[in-house]
Amino acid sequence: MTKIEKIVLSYSGGLDTSIILKWLQETYGCEVVTFTADLGQGEELEPARAKAEMSGVKDIRIVDLREEFVRDFVFPMLRANALYEGQYLLGSSIARPLIAKHLVGIAREVGADAVAHGATGKGNDQIRFELAVNALDPSIRVIAPWRQWTIRSRMQLLEYAEKHRILVPSDKRGEAPFSIDANLLHTSTEGKILENPAEVAPDHVYQRTVDPIDAPDAPEIITIRFERGDPISVNGKAVTPAALLTKLNGLGGRHGVGRLDLVENRFIGMKSRGIYETPGGTILLAAHRGIESITLDRAAAHLKDEIMPRYAELIYNGFWFAPEREMLQALIDHSQAFVSGEVTLRLYKGSASVISRASPCSLYSADLVTFEESAIAFDHHDAEGFIRLNGLRLRSLAARNGR
Ligand code: ARG
Repeated sequence: MTKIEKIVLSYSGGLDTSIILKWLQETYGCEVVTFTADLGQGEELEPARAKAEMSGVKDIRIVDLREEFVRDFVFPMLRANALYEGQYLLGSSIARPLIAKHLVGIAREVGADAVAHGATGKGNDQIRFELAVNALDPSIRVIAPWRQWTIRSRMQLLEYAEKHRILVPSDKRGEAPFSIDANLLHTSTEGKILENPAEVAPDHVYQRTVDPIDAPDAPEIITIRFERGDPISVNGKAVTPAALLTKLNGLGGRHGVGRLDLVENRFIGMKSRGIYETPGGTILLAAHRGIESITLDRAAAHLKDEIMPRYAELIYNGFWFAPEREMLQALIDHSQAFVSGEVTLRLYKGSASVISRASPCSLYSADLVTFEESAIAFDHHDAEGFIRLNGLRLRSLAARNGR
């Protein structure tokens, strides 16, 4: 093993990465640069700086990545209507390639030969970080302390913290916190009592949405405008991608939109149970499907829906920077050329329902579909022939099978 000279650590300032910082400094005896990304996790980032300083870190990077996150990662993914296993909006999965990209960028800038992350050996996140680093710069080594050190549980982690006098954060109730991952797209909560999927999740795991039962009795009507597949304004006000998602998170959270209690299949092999809150993302998925419903051709829409699970799985499994994801992205992006217009939704006690949609590029023709007399020439005899020919093989089969 060649000696490592400098490491860039993905650092949140939380318990795990604080311990990792200490462990890296002791184990490798080299300079550690910390990188803290602001992804809209809603946490103060200055305490992370103070903690890194106290641990003797000289090069501390805190970067606001909110706009890049939403514009270049969340929105492209949303164009696909991506859902993993039919339900998960991929809030953690989509953030990892962005963090990895910046880890690699900083490593190159400061001449570091390795990057390090705090993802555990049982999760998906280690795979996502490392596949992204592999794809972006194979010369950079990845250090995953959770797979290397002798600490094997949260209990041992707490003992290590105590021994090295590292502050252990507790939740509002004074208990050890859940494993939480938050950003502008979602909050994901795992661990502790949630590890038993037969247990109902206690109310206090929810962080950014109210219980739909307690949501306002009056529905709220909102409009979202799309331009070529991306949302550009809410209620007539044009805003940046991050501001738009922030706005929708507030609206959705207040109406209890976007809660999900899910058992999913991790790429690494096991099933896991998590609680997800994706208020803005849930509204955007409904709205995007709403605008696509009038602007996309049927075959184009159905092809998108066919490839969607594959695309979502690639993101879940960490292949954002792989050619097959980029190929599918090109197909998806191409489909969005006419996905422009406005969608109106009703937020009400946990639901975000499309109640109207309009577009200058609409393919919808009231004149064509109407039950009333139509001006457009539609020959009903064509329908008769259409059915007769489609029924041809079914009639042959029925005759042979003696039905
Ligand atoms: N299971 C989710 C995923 O793989 C979330 C992982 C991170 N969340 C956490 N609470 N540690 O995308």
